[in-house]
Amino acid sequence: MKAIQINSFEEYQEKYTKSITQPEAFWGEIAFNFRWKKKWDTILNWDFQDFQVDWFKGGKLNITETILEENIVKNPDKVAYYWEKKKKKDQHKSITYLELYYQVCELANGLKSLNVQKGDRVCIYMPMVIESVVAMLACARIGAVHSVVFAGFSANALADRINDAAVKVVLTADGLNRGDKKVDLKSMVDEALVSCSTVENVIVLDCIHSNPKMKNGRDIFYHDLIAGKEKKCDAAIMDAEDMLFILYTSGSTGKPKGVVHTCGGYMVYTAYTFQNAFQYDSKDVFWCTADIGWITGHSYIVYGSLLCGATSVLFEGIPTFPDAGRFWEIIEKYKVNQFYTAPTAIRSLMSFDLSFVEKHDLSSLKIIGSVGEPINEEAWNWYYKHVGKNNCPIIDTWWQTETGGIMLSGLGGLSPMKATFAGYPIPGIQLELLDTEGNKIQEANAEGYLCVKFPWPSMIRTTYGDHERCQQTYFSNYKGYYFTGDGAKRDEHGMYRIIGRVDDVINVSGHRFGTAEIEDAINKNEYAIESAVVGFPHDIKGQGIYVFVVVNTKETDENLIKSSIIDSIADHIGKIAKPDIIQVVKGLPKTRSGKIMRRILRKIAEGEKDNFGDISTLLDPNVVQCILETR
Ligand code: WT7
Repeated sequence: MKAIQINSFEEYQEKYTKSITQPEAFWGEIAFNFRWKKKWDTILNWDFQDFQVDWFKGGKLNITETILEENIVKNPDKVAYYWEKKKKKDQHKSITYLELYYQVCELANGLKSLNVQKGDRVCIYMPMVIESVVAMLACARIGAVHSVVFAGFSANALADRINDAAVKVVLTADGLNRGDKKVDLKSMVDEALVSCSTVENVIVLDCIHSNPKMKNGRDIFYHDLIAGKEKKCDAAIMDAEDMLFILYTSGSTGKPKGVVHTCGGYMVYTAYTFQNAFQYDSKDVFWCTADIGWITGHSYIVYGSLLCGATSVLFEGIPTFPDAGRFWEIIEKYKVNQFYTAPTAIRSLMSFDLSFVEKHDLSSLKIIGSVGEPINEEAWNWYYKHVGKNNCPIIDTWWQTETGGIMLSGLGGLSPMKATFAGYPIPGIQLELLDTEGNKIQEANAEGYLCVKFPWPSMIRTTYGDHERCQQTYFSNYKGYYFTGDGAKRDEHGMYRIIGRVDDVINVSGHRFGTAEIEDAINKNEYAIESAVVGFPHDIKGQGIYVFVVVNTKETDENLIKSSIIDSIADHIGKIAKPDIIQVVKGLPKTRSGKIMRRILRKIAEGEKDNFGDISTLLDPNVVQCILETR
């Protein structure tokens, strides 16, 4: 299937205008090319006051039919993935669309044999292997809802997510390789399941041959489950608005929330943005370096790219193992045409000798993309010059777990490009910058809160099990708008630059954490009385995690306290949320009503020494001086 492609910037402008003046006709035309079992009755119903939206209502489909059946008819032997392992340079394998079809059907039948039914939730906690993609598609095939949890999250974090969605089956692996270390995933699952009562079965992929302990009656090896299963499985008929998946993400308050995406709109939008942002040609090899545990992996390693029949690289490794040339070596090996990575990776690789890039032939590259966090000018220039050799357009794609697909981005080489600017909205995306009072900001080069005023097909539908929270989080700050949580600037040409989060969400190496969530983990520590977490600018990670903590008298050794706090965070969230700085303080700056003034802590974390603005509302203004003295 090929989604309708825009071929010039003028055409983009025409399409953009049409997408605003006739949104339904615009999206109806795009949706037409996909494989539907029955076309929709209405294209769009929506309400942003009392949030509710549906796209292609009444349409019947199964997303895996556009991915598998549709592509197999045309090109069964086309490679869907080249899988590059992290360990040995010579180990790789590939899978064609036909083979993918067989594997998806086998596992779908395996899931059915465990009594997984349409609407049941299945958690996928797996490494970056082809079977993880197969697992997602097998769920979609039978109408089960997948909830992928990034394999870097801890047992506790996994348990929270399993319980929130009342998961029936967990798919995992015995373990995974990270750099030169092995991570034991199965025992994490075992630990998590002690507090999860809904899980009936655990399917275990034998990845690192570690001979894991299997619980009788509950655990089954992946290879045993699929043994003898038919390589054919009828696709469940889904309504366009039936749930496709849940993906947990952090917000400024409370526990991570399950962002819900549905079948029809997500399908149409991810394919459309994949085709257009990357200007994908059927012979191209595409590589997105994200993990499938994040939305980038869902939309552009799995769904968008497969819908368009693309050949992708699936990489299990990390950019610096065994050395800092790993990315460039893989681009050369598979002659990658579109490369999509995060600024954090670029900044980390920039710090190594240029010879790591220069010794590889990167001439296959046509488009290089950036995602996940703002890209600073230095990283943009380095990427453009040393990876793109001054002739590959950079697309800086801004979007979110909640948006499902790319919202702001250049379209391959068609759009004008400006360093550090994500550029123009994708057709259909109607953005507005608002000030604190909710007034529209009209003048150029002013900053405001980035909001969306009209629905788009892959937008969040609800937060799992708690629609009120969805309404509160995204639709209550500015009436009638979806609020992104980001601040942005728009130049005189209408190009957008994302400044960053304006809420208590921090973005560390492109991973999103709520400061409250980290504080909760710290506050469970036996030495902690209370804590405040803020982000601060970090050269490589974008933002680092700075912890201010007040401790009790149980222990006097600060180093011991700090490592114990690091352990608590690792236990409750995962090692990925390891703080960069922990400062033990006597007190936190609070207002008379007991609210922590994070503004001040953010400034201290940034290195500010005396310019704190008005601190007269503090209960005890001396606290600030005290913190500065021990910084
Ligand atoms: C937040 C969403 C989108 C997939 C990965 C992250 C930040 C994302 C950009 C960009 C500046 C960006 C925003 C956004 N962000 N892309 N190109 N430029 N900032 O998804 O975990 O849901 O995080 O990431 O702050 O709100 P996510």
